[in-house]
Amino acid sequence: MIELRGCSKTYPGKPGQEPVQALDNLELEIHANEFVCLLGPSGCGKTTLLKAVAGLIPLDSGQVRVDGQLVTGPGTDRAMVFQDFALLPWADVIANVAFGLELRGVPLADRERTARDLISTVGLAGFERHYPRQLSGGMQQRVGLARALAVNPRTLLMDEPFGALDAQTRRLLQEDLLRLLDRDPKTVLFVTHSMDEAVRLADRVVVMTRRPGRVQDIVPVDLPRPRPAEVDRLPRFAELTEYLWQELKAMNQ
Ligand SMILES: Nc1ncnc2c1ncn2[C@@H]1O[C@H](COP(=O)(O)OP(=O)(O)OP(=O)(O)O)[C@@H](O)[C@H]1O
Ligand SMILES: [Mg+2]
Repeated sequence: MIELRGCSKTYPGKPGQEPVQALDNLELEIHANEFVCLLGPSGCGKTTLLKAVAGLIPLDSGQVRVDGQLVTGPGTDRAMVFQDFALLPWADVIANVAFGLELRGVPLADRERTARDLISTVGLAGFERHYPRQLSGGMQQRVGLARALAVNPRTLLMDEPFGALDAQTRRLLQEDLLRLLDRDPKTVLFVTHSMDEAVRLADRVVVMTRRPGRVQDIVPVDLPRPRPAEVDRLPRFAELTEYLWQELKAMNQ
């Protein structure tokens, strides 16, 4: 469960520039094992919100609690997946996936076993000794996902993780992610610019206002779980994406 109470964040401006208020008194609650997608105009504070939950940046006011614990810094109960993969270029796939375990002092043999299992779970068996530059974007993002899962976090924070991928690879990773979560449920906060992706994945879609970001609307996605592969053929799917589109369009006018 993630609870955001009165969260505000202003970044100091560079010399000669105005400060930028990214979040304004934002309130949001995400239930345990719920999948929430965050949608909103560029620059409205989505990444800021995710980083605050990850404990990577301090807020000016307000509180974030994850599973009841006040967030004061990063922790292995939460893991983040980044849009640009953020892999270690000098480390092979195993070392990248095992990185968080190494930081935790898990012995080499144990962390390699965990890493190998996860690498095969995300469909990369056989690529253990490859380096990031030898992998396609989709494969690199599978490594990013395996790395996040390696510490077995209760909460997954995903910042446009599939934004840089081609349409087919994106669909495959979406399906893989849902399958993984069906087997091993987690609380997920997932930022996307795609209305289609939000409706395909989420239990609820949170629409944020323009900067400074607040919650504009919360849209429950009343589509069946496990999501059928052809969920986008259901009339309700089209209704929900159209509703979100109208809402985002209105914000840009
Ligand atoms: N470290 C920083 N220093 C100064 N300003 C920042 C910093 N990080 C973000 N900002 C500003 O805060 C605002 C919100 O940024 P944020 O990255 O959270 O938005 P976002 O919703 O993730 O945008 P996008 O959809 O483009 O990724 C933006 O105006 C951005 O320029
Ligand atoms: Mg962002």
